[in-house]
Amino acid sequence: MGERVEIFEVGPRDGLQNEKRPIPVSEKVALVDCLSRAGFSRIECASFVSPKWVPQMAGSAEVLAGITRVPGLRYAALTPNMRGFQDAVAAGADEVAVFAAASEGFSKANINASIAESIARFAPIMEAARDIEMPVRGYISCVSDCPYDGPTPPDKVAEVADMLFTMGCYEISLGDTIGQGTPERIAAMLRAVLDHVPADRLAGHYHDTAGRALANIDASLELGLRVFDAAVGGLGGCPYAPGAAGNVATEAVQEHLERLGYETGLDAAVIAEAADMARAMRVGTGAGKEI
Ligand code: HMG
Ligand code: MG
Repeated sequence: MGERVEIFEVGPRDGLQNEKRPIPVSEKVALVDCLSRAGFSRIECASFVSPKWVPQMAGSAEVLAGITRVPGLRYAALTPNMRGFQDAVAAGADEVAVFAAASEGFSKANINASIAESIARFAPIMEAARDIEMPVRGYISCVSDCPYDGPTPPDKVAEVADMLFTMGCYEISLGDTIGQGTPERIAAMLRAVLDHVPADRLAGHYHDTAGRALANIDASLELGLRVFDAAVGGLGGCPYAPGAAGNVATEAVQEHLERLGYETGLDAAVIAEAADMARAMRVGTGAGKEI
């Protein structure tokens, strides 16, 4: 048996948040329910952000209420502030994620706060989450390049990773938001971060804009990372990162990892079914009616 590598499915959140067509809640629920049969441990399917900033995620509470939960599978939600955290808890999220950036330009554009302000905003979330034993993941965007500020210094990523880890995030997901990283630059960034956070608490979150996400995963595997975020069907992007393409496709990562001899524990036939659904949602022919 090969060594286990986990794919953290983010398609229903990172994928769908960027779609232009308003996607009915019933289609989102159907996608999550299909993905729930594939063998994931964690699926990110909700985001409690301002609907003025990201209209596509407005039905997140309805999605969490509508899905058929598989025991042991954790359904995750993004929470930018206390209000989002409270809404996520009320809606029954199993874990939440705070999201910061390693560049000031993106931090301002994405969450209307400086990096320092965002960290201060996360402090009460961490405290409230600790009280109810809710796991909190921490994202860092622009670990390689920022659409506003250019290349990101690895030390800056390390500094933000250290802050999120010290605050209590159980895992730090490193986002190449605009998919411009190269394996060499991703490795340099990881080496800086690894001085502060162990490899088993890191995840790679690589968008595939330049077609290098799999090579960046290879560079990360070499440095000990064993968790990678991906979106079924290669859905997505980020509304506040112009030109950001989708996340690397789950099916491509699964195939790649298994070819390298790793175990993902995922059912390729179910993933293919979900990828078909995701692609149909993108062009607006998805099944399901509005609920
Ligand atoms: P703001 O305008 O500075 O905040 O936005 P505010 O407190 O002044 O609130 C503005 C309005 O939003 C108010 O409503 C609030 O009530 C409401 P109004 O009075 O105008 O009617 N509001 C909320 N509504 C619902 N839920 C909430 C919430 N908070 C305030 N939680 C804020 C600050 C953080 C809210 C805003 O900037 C925001 O929502 N940003 C989210 C942007 C986002 O979701 N981006 C995509 C996710 S990150 C990503 O994709 C990257 C990642 O994948 C990793 C990678 O690839 O790099 C994770
Ligand atoms: Mg992303």
